[in-house]
Amino acid sequence: MTLNKFNRRKFLRLAATGVGLTMVYFWDKMMDSRLIAAAHKSVVLPLTRNLVSFYRDYLVIRQKQHVKVFSSHCTHLGCIINKVENGKLICPCHGSEFDLNGNAVKGPAYKPLKSYPFEMSNNGQKIIIKATES
Ligand code: FES
Repeated sequence: MTLNKFNRRKFLRLAATGVGLTMVYFWDKMMDSRLIAAAHKSVVLPLTRNLVSFYRDYLVIRQKQHVKVFSSHCTHLGCIINKVENGKLICPCHGSEFDLNGNAVKGPAYKPLKSYPFEMSNNGQKIIIKATES
């Protein structure tokens, strides 16, 4: 192996690493902008008696009198979370798990689910997620 080959190989490894890290950075930025776009719509959702109600962009969690609203988009690569098992929200794509407070408890996702502020309708049967300003 010549010195030239070694340098070329090292350069190609560094370039591939740089391209990979750049792709991860832009993917992460794109996922954040998708979550922000979802937050800019006002949405009215029915409040069911289920522990977890799955809607396209939202998860509504109801534990006794406490209600929480989260984005249904997994913080790993954005798949829609559509399953709850043993008190954990499960992403179908790569198996990330979140607790009912939206915290990532099993990777590859490590960020918590985005939570949304909301209001209850006067009759307490609907959740109103207000559009956010930006
Ligand atoms: S997109 Fe959810 S675990 Fe990968």
